[in-house]
Amino acid sequence: MDDSIEERKADHIEICLKEDVQAQKASTGFEDVSLVHEALPEIELKKIDLSTTVFGYKFSAPLFVGAMTGGTAKATKINAAIAEAIEELNIGMGVGSQRVAIDNPKLERSFMVVREKAPTAFILANIGGPQLASKYGVKEAKKAVAMVQANALAIHLNVLQEAVQPEGETDYSGLISKIGEVAEALEVPVIVKETGAGIAAEDAAMLEAAGVAGIDVAGVGGTSWAAVEYYRAKARQDVFSQRLGETFWDWGLPTAVSLVETAKSVSLPVIASGGIRNGIDAAKALALGASLVSATYPFLQPATKSSEDVKNSLQLMVGEMRNAMFLVGADSLQKLQKVPVVLTGKTAEWLRARGFQPELYARRSA
Ligand SMILES: Cc1cc2nc3c(=O)[nH]c(=O)nc-3n(C[C@H](O)[C@H](O)[C@H](O)COP(=O)(O)O)c2cc1C
Repeated sequence: MDDSIEERKADHIEICLKEDVQAQKASTGFEDVSLVHEALPEIELKKIDLSTTVFGYKFSAPLFVGAMTGGTAKATKINAAIAEAIEELNIGMGVGSQRVAIDNPKLERSFMVVREKAPTAFILANIGGPQLASKYGVKEAKKAVAMVQANALAIHLNVLQEAVQPEGETDYSGLISKIGEVAEALEVPVIVKETGAGIAAEDAAMLEAAGVAGIDVAGVGGTSWAAVEYYRAKARQDVFSQRLGETFWDWGLPTAVSLVETAKSVSLPVIASGGIRNGIDAAKALALGASLVSATYPFLQPATKSSEDVKNSLQLMVGEMRNAMFLVGADSLQKLQKVPVVLTGKTAEWLRARGFQPELYARRSA
């Protein structure tokens, strides 16, 4: 396998399409989260309002497609399909890391296509934390935003992936102050996102103090970057990296745990992601305090086919969210954030051990 960044990005897409790269022994923790069924909801299903305004954009439903790709011909097609679907639905999407196009402007088109196909939707630009720590600054962050006329910028943290790959950029020192500089200098909101290992309360508090506008927890339970690197290592017969990928496959904070830790520690919009695969888990996340929900992997396969396929997948998830809201008697997201939620099992144990009180969620009433 070629090791240029462009080739590496293409490998990621191929591996995610062909291999099982989802968490295996770990899960999101949403199996420990229960919404209390309401037999007398006293609302009308059709009238449930899922709309919400976050980061200055009015989403028709609290959902966006997570950061995935850019840089190659296939990525252009994937990005265009997602962009067309989200434009029709009035929701949002993140583009993949723009590093390839910041370093090589010839590749900008694979990102710019997103704004062409989605002139009014919410678009999240994307740069990497490790690049920000080493060589990028405000200039590159502004370039990423301008390239897609983004509504906001995401800075991704992927310390697990960097740690298990031989070409990993493993110097994260000084990153938090760089994040602060970018957050201060940009005219659009700056969000920090993980990529499948979660964000703990302490990190969330540091990010808020640094001045970010939102946090996407992207916890364990869905796509595992250690798994992706496992397959890359296997293909080049790199026994050491393969072993690292296997050992750290399920590393990190489960999404439900990370969401509660973060939402309880900051007063910023929190995005729940990492293994969210249906509208019930999305509704649970919103009930636990998320302002928006995001999923990435479920839309990859549809995006290689057509925008119609992406739209159908998104509409299914939104339909399930609406149904879940009906079944707990919440006709708005504000009401959903007040319904009782029962936390049990390992998720409740974890939260209790970390000083959060899972019982409090069970005593709320809308
Ligand atoms: C094929 C693929 C490529 C990805 N590329 C990026 C990226 O360039 N930048 C980024 O911030 N996250 C990237 N991610 C991570 C996702 O945005 C998300 O945080 C992670 O996959 C967890 O969500 P999921 O379980 O719904 O897939 C990528 C995910 C996938 C599946």
